Amino acid sequence: MHNRNNITDKIFWVGTNDRRTHLFENYWPLPKGVAYNSYVIVDEKTAIVDTVEKGTMDEYLDNITEVLDGRKADYLIINHMEPDHSGSIRSLVERYPEMKIVGNKKTFPMLERFYGIKENIFEVQEGNQIDLGEHKLNFYMVPMLHWPETMVTFETTQGILFSGDAFGAFGTLDGGIFDDELDLDYLDEEISRYYSNIVGKYGRPTQNALKKLGGLEIKMICATHGPIWRSHVADIIAKYDKWSQYKTDEGCVIVYSSMYGNTEKMADNIARQLVKKGIKKVRIHDSSKTHPSYIINDIFKYRGVILGSCAYNGDVFPTMETLINELEHMAIKDHVLGVFGSKSWGGGGLKRLNKFAEEIKWETIEATPEALCAPNSEDFDLCEALAEGMASRLKELYK
Ligand code: FEO
Repeated sequence: MHNRNNITDKIFWVGTNDRRTHLFENYWPLPKGVAYNSYVIVDEKTAIVDTVEKGTMDEYLDNITEVLDGRKADYLIINHMEPDHSGSIRSLVERYPEMKIVGNKKTFPMLERFYGIKENIFEVQEGNQIDLGEHKLNFYMVPMLHWPETMVTFETTQGILFSGDAFGAFGTLDGGIFDDELDLDYLDEEISRYYSNIVGKYGRPTQNALKKLGGLEIKMICATHGPIWRSHVADIIAKYDKWSQYKTDEGCVIVYSSMYGNTEKMADNIARQLVKKGIKKVRIHDSSKTHPSYIINDIFKYRGVILGSCAYNGDVFPTMETLINELEHMAIKDHVLGVFGSKSWGGGGLKRLNKFAEEIKWETIEATPEALCAPNSEDFDLCEALAEGMASRLKELYK
């Protein structure tokens, strides 16, 4: 690190950018990479806040060495144990064997089981403070945001929240580290995709955390991924508040699975009818082409969801099965759902989508067209009825 990345005169970003890894958690695409943010506070005592994924560890250890400039590390604060942040702990412990490892009672069993570390642990509870000198660190438990041991650290003198994954984003930090140094338009989808993909299942714990932290005078948010928020603190908190309440905008996401284009024709017809009926924000995805990451992200934006599948081996198409499984696991709330399909003989696609509709418990649209082989004019009439049902319900909800 030839240029020290100062957050303040005594707090430094020592994180790393990962442009090599294709999939976050080995599942979510990283077209714009990801940053693992870690921080060092240099005071009478020194503290490292979170670490980085082990694949970028060499650079990380160099960054720490440069910032500490011959001093030892007194504390390592572990806000979150997922290995993209805990992956370098063992190397830090080898380098600074006297360092106290700060976590809560749920942190340390994971620390032992992941890394075999059980010495020099320093347990904190909600409301405890560590005094580094000028800087005071307070700890707040935010369980299931998004793991059970998750906590955040608030530096009271400067008003800096070390927030763990909360308020994080995909995307590397290209040339800057602060929100006002970076192209937030370029990162916009990476910010919402990080929330919807990684945190999205945990709407209620996110709401609980926002309420708990609501009284703090937060001047800066240092998350473990993405930009450091200092000019848009209120904006990112407002986004999290909206997303975690499952608040969506008027619009409709259509996802289809189609082998030979017949189900796709129905999707296009439904989209056309939706637009004719005044729904402008219509997004169509082919489940075989678009990763669920992006589809889920759109579903977090728009109230309407229409899913269509051909039959495949007497069931729904495999890529649609993957998507609806993910939606069920994430238990996303408050959508209006329409389903449709096609079959060449016995069917199965629409049947599975109807079962999904029962399980997810979203409001549903009555018309459920299912074409035999290729859609005919009666099928397209039913597609129009489905679009009409969706459009009028969305207009009612957003009038
Ligand atoms: Fe970025 Fe949950 O780890």
